[in-house]
Amino acid sequence: MIQDINIRAAEFEDAAPIFALVQSAVDCLLPRSLGDLVQNIDRCLVAQRKQQVVGTVSWQILPEIGCCSNPAVEIKSLIVRDNERGHGLGRRLVNAAIDRIAVLRPREIIVLTFTPAFFARLGFEVTSKERLMHKLYMGCMNCTRFESPFTCPEVAMSLSMETDEKEV
Ligand SMILES: CC(C)(COP(=O)(O)OP(=O)(O)OC[C@H]1O[C@@H](n2cnc3c(N)ncnc32)[C@H](O)[C@@H]1OP(=O)(O)O)[C@@H](O)C(=O)NCCC(=O)NCCS
Repeated sequence: MIQDINIRAAEFEDAAPIFALVQSAVDCLLPRSLGDLVQNIDRCLVAQRKQQVVGTVSWQILPEIGCCSNPAVEIKSLIVRDNERGHGLGRRLVNAAIDRIAVLRPREIIVLTFTPAFFARLGFEVTSKERLMHKLYMGCMNCTRFESPFTCPEVAMSLSMETDEKEV
């Protein structure tokens, strides 16, 4: 049951099971080294059932040149174990990540994905890769699968975090 699954901040000892999960989905996720996961474990959540990690999600803050005029955060390395899919866990993981990211008050959360229909269910909208160009360099520069982000089938999507709150 999905209710048996607890979503929590990742700890160092989760790095190995997260690595194994990401490795199991190399056709739809960018590979990550174990060292990278350890170094960024504070930007990772895991979904745990009993003693087993059954899902994970991470995020990274995207670069800005100079003062932060368009702060954005990218959600990445989202995966739910295949026998746990279709029961709302992917949605719970993304929403939990959004809650953590929201405290930074970014202007938007972006994702580059092969499953745009899933993110559309969560309110993300397709955006142009050109608009995110300097951000794409963070991941796409070192891609070994595709020649260019513009011929790669990954879809760029954005969730606006702007509120209508006005100062009084
Ligand atoms: C994508 C993934 C995380 C979804 O996890 P999940 O637990 O099955 O998703 P959920 O059950 O929370 O689905 C939430 C909604 O999205 C829909 N959905 C889920 N996967 C979908 C897909 N591949 N295509 C279209 N819609 C999808 C569900 O039907 C559900 O719709 P609802 O709003 O009507 O309830 C999971 O399939 C996975 O790990 N895939 C492999 C890794 C991957 O592709 N990660 C994303 C890379 S950015």
